[in-house]
Parts: sequence; C-alpha cells; structure tokens
Amino acid sequence: MCGIVGYLGIQNPKTIIIDGLKKLEYRGYDSAGVAIIHDGKTKRIRAQGKLKALEDKVQNEEFNGHVGIGHTRWATHGAPNERNAHPHQVGEISLVHNGIIENYLEIKEELLAQGAIITSDTDSELVAHLIWNEIQKNQNLLQSVQNILKRIVGAFSIVVLWEKSPNELVAFKDGPPLIVGLSKDKSNDEFFIVSDVQAALVHTNRFVYLNDREVVHIKDHSISYYNADGEKLNKPESILDWSTDMVEKMGFEHYMLKELYEQPRSVANAMAPYIDTDTHTVKLTDIGFDAETVFKKIDRVIFVACGTSFYAAMIGKYLIEQICRVPVDTDVASEFRYRRPVIPKNSLVISISQSGETADTLAAVRLAKEHGAELLSITNVAHSSIDREAAGHMYMNSGVEIGVASTKAFTSTLAILNILALQISKARGALAPVSEKQYVQNLLAVPGQIEVVLAYDKYFSEAAEQLKKYKGFLYLGRGVSYPIALEGALKLKELAYMHAEGYAAGEMKHGPLALIDDNMAIVVVAPTDELLDKTISNLQEAKARGGKIISIGTGENKSLKSMSEYYLSLPHSLWTTNPIISVVPLQLMAYHLAHSLGYDVDQPRNLAKSVTVE
Ligand code: F6R
Repeated sequence: MCGIVGYLGIQNPKTIIIDGLKKLEYRGYDSAGVAIIHDGKTKRIRAQGKLKALEDKVQNEEFNGHVGIGHTRWATHGAPNERNAHPHQVGEISLVHNGIIENYLEIKEELLAQGAIITSDTDSELVAHLIWNEIQKNQNLLQSVQNILKRIVGAFSIVVLWEKSPNELVAFKDGPPLIVGLSKDKSNDEFFIVSDVQAALVHTNRFVYLNDREVVHIKDHSISYYNADGEKLNKPESILDWSTDMVEKMGFEHYMLKELYEQPRSVANAMAPYIDTDTHTVKLTDIGFDAETVFKKIDRVIFVACGTSFYAAMIGKYLIEQICRVPVDTDVASEFRYRRPVIPKNSLVISISQSGETADTLAAVRLAKEHGAELLSITNVAHSSIDREAAGHMYMNSGVEIGVASTKAFTSTLAILNILALQISKARGALAPVSEKQYVQNLLAVPGQIEVVLAYDKYFSEAAEQLKKYKGFLYLGRGVSYPIALEGALKLKELAYMHAEGYAAGEMKHGPLALIDDNMAIVVVAPTDELLDKTISNLQEAKARGGKIISIGTGENKSLKSMSEYYLSLPHSLWTTNPIISVVPLQLMAYHLAHSLGYDVDQPRNLAKSVTVE
C-alpha cells in the first residue's frame, strides 16, 4: 500500500530516500514526503501527487544530517493531500506509517482530551503523538516505541525518527512488510529500512526480514531486534541475488510493457526448477515438505487468493480436478477468512500471491494453519510474509513485477499450476508416463508460443484507436477460458477505466444479453476444444443483437473469423496451457487501450501493487 524508506548512514539520505521511494512508487502514489535531519533539526518536506512533485520540491534543498525517513502514500484515512502526507511530525518525533490503526478513534478522543493539536486526518499522526508523549517522560526512543506498541491495534509498519538523537532509528511492524538492509561490506556504516527490498537493492544484497510484532533499533553503528515483550532476538540474514537490472525499464516505455515482453523468459524460469528437460517429466522433490508424501495423502485442495491471483486459482481448480480427480475449492481470501470455512482433515491449502504480502490472503493462510491444514504457497517474493507462513513453497520466479497490473506473475503462476497438477497426479500414481511426457512437452512449448502471440502488439496498438469508441466490453469464455475472460475484463477495468465484465459464455443469456447493442464489444476466448461450438452459438446470439465481436481462437478458425470484427489466431496447444497463451492478447489490448487514452499504465488511479490492508 504505502512505501517506506528509512536510512541511517554515511551517504546523503536525500538521494538514498528519493531513489528508494522511486522503486516503491508502485505501492502508492497520491502524495509523498521526507523528514531528514539538517543542522540538528528535522527538515520535513511533503507534496501532494506523484513522487515527481516531491522530487522537484527537494531538488535544491540541503540536508547535512545522516538520518532520514521517506514515504509514498496510498491513502486510507484522510484525503490524499499534503496535510495528510507522511512523514507526520509531532514535537521532535517524525514518523512514517504503512497500514491502518483500527482503534484510531479511541486514541484520537483520548489525545484531544489531553489537549493535543492534531493537524491531519490520518490515523498515523496519532501514533506520533503517543510516542512524543512517552519520550518527553523517558527520553528514550526505543522505550517509548515499546511502551506504545500495546496501545495500537491494526496492521502497521512504522519507522520513527527522533530529532534529538540524529544517529538513531526505531521501526516496528505488525502486518505490512518491513525489511532491514545491512551495509554490503559488513562495515555497519549504513542501514536501510524499507517496505520492499527493491528500494535498497542498488546498495546492498544483505537483508533481514522483520516478523510481526518485532521492533528494530538502529543506533550509531549497531542494530538490535526485539519481540513485543522487549526480549532481544537473533535474526537471520538473507542474501538476495536479484540484480538491479531486473527492476529497471530496460528501454521499454512502461514497466508493464517490459513485463509483458519478459513472459517467454519468466514462464520458462517458473517451470525450470520443477521439470526434467531430458526425460520430459516433472520432478517431485522437497519443496519445504516432501511433495510426494503430502500430495499422496491429501483429500482436498483449497485455493485462497485475491484479484488476478484468484483467477489463476480458478484455473488451478480446472487443472487439478480434471488431471488428478481431487476435489478443489477456490475462495477469494477476503471471503474465506470471515465465513468460518470448513477445512477437512488432509486438506492442502494453496495460497497464490505475487507479492506474498496481500493482507487478506495472509489472514486466510493463517486461519488455515490454525485448522491444521497443510500449507503450500505460490509466491513471487521469497521470504515474504505468506511464503514464511507456509511449509511448502513454489516460486513464480518471474523477477520483480513493478507494473501495478499483474501480468508476468499470472502467466508464471499458470505454468506452476500445470506442473503442480501433474505432480499431484504423479504422486498418487495416476499419471501415465506417456501422458506426463505429452503434458510436459506441451508446457515446454509455451514460452515460444507466447513469443508468437506477442507479435500482436502492433496489431493492438493500431486497433486501440477503434476499440476506444465502445462503451462497454463483455469478455466471454468457457472452461479454463472463463477465468481468462475475467482476467481480461479486470485488466481493461484497472488500466483503461472502461466498463468491462467477464462472464462464463453459457451465462450470457441469463442477464448480460440485455446489455448488448452496437456500443458493446464482445471479447471471446474460444480456443478449439470440445466447447467451441457452444461458444460460437452464444456469439451468434450476441451478434444478432448488434454486439461487435473480437475473438481469440486457434489457428485459422474460419467460422469464428467470419463473425468477428477482429480475429486473433493462437498457436495450437493443449487445453491445459491454452490460458497461458490466450491471456497475452488480452493483456496487450488493455495496455494499448489505456495508453492510447493517455492513462498511466504502470500506476492506475486508486490502486496499489501490494494490498497490505484489508
Ligand atoms: C490486478 C492485480 C491484483 C492482484 C491482487 C493480489 O492486475 O494485480 O488484482 O492480483 O491485488 O495481489 P497478490 O498476487 O500480490 O496477492
């Protein structure tokens, strides 16, 4: 949601913090700010709007201190204006916050009764007041933070700076991610506290991941970690091998476009650890638990995820039920966590999350854990909160995804789900070697097939001008193409701000048909399979009512082509991998429509990449 950068060290905090915030802007971009010590005083500069506004404001500002904090905001409490931008400052305390303080009303009333002057509409400022009240009594930053921890309820990551102690930072987390970066050369000359490692990756590869209710205290050249009871902790350090190139645009106009083009490689990377390319078989290895043992004993699979990751889960259901004959439930995590779900014995709960930090998915995973379920996480970010909660781990291996709309993580997930279905079936002795080989060979062809589909890029950039005129878009598909229709509609909504609905093609006559006239475009995903004829009948019904058809089919499908305004031909593939290929034209279409309408493709309005509040 919001992005945090804290820095204490020998370099210029202004540059480090602003550059770090640039890497985190995907988390929130309605306002930004910094508080850096200068001449022993806190110099706080904030700006409404994107980070560029702050960058312009601080450009000619001098800071001679060695410590500072910065923030890029996605508003929860209080409008996105400068008054509500972080850092919040109360007395000598400045603070940045990511998350929500649930009991803020009660705290606010108490502070107002004590005569506090509250200058913003945020819940975050109240925490600064609490710390300031404490520190005036005890003159100890760590102690003050530890004292107020029990007072605040919610989901938060907070970094605090005390003007009087310009070689010190304290941070704590209960919910949204917070990671400490240590100096690369082990000199302890500098420390970073960031919401995402990307913000410090150019400076170091040494990171320590904070768990919930942990406090970190950095002072002078030393660092200590504590639990909520104030007991000292020994925290393991992780070395990250992501290169900084992986987070740059590499010549593409937008991160999203770069990520679309990375898909042949990212899908190949996702599959690589799990496939034996000599024998064309899937590996059943230790993935945190012994995959063969766990997959053999399960009676049910339950997927939990949100948004695009949830649509991937829906495809996972088709794959696992049809290939393994194991019953599968799929749940939107925000529903699962509150509906008192029945989680039978021997259930495997699979969470899908690109960021590994989505609050609802994390809560759903924790609930499943309490019920004793076996947990498998599919994430793109190793060591993320969801990844750490699970016993079994599979990784998307997509590299950093910056574009707020998820693309390459989705296709990588679909590749992983294909593999998982084969692994489960194999562990249960239900996968004939000849079928395994055929499925795997088909999977190995996918990166090349995506490359073929990416050639539609030019076609869509030209078609975008025409497609702009439609008032609404109905996306249709059957079977595994149904979740792809949902995903195509989501991409168009979030990027081009156009009304779009995804529907199971067979459901069209149960309501949406009433919407159809010649202002409505119907985007249909109709690969050649046993459901094709039924989908074509549905299209006839729509066309008869004036709907304009954009269709995606396999090869030269004459009947589909003849009824369509636009027809895109996909390479031949099995039904299992068809969704990985057929989503690509829909991603391109949303990208080009949004771009031609002049919208910010990488940072659509009101959204954030990592949704760490519920
Ligand atoms: C849409 C999109 C979101 C995410 C959702 C879950 O393009 O990116 O719908 O899929 O917020 O995020 P993760 O996968 O990080 O849990």
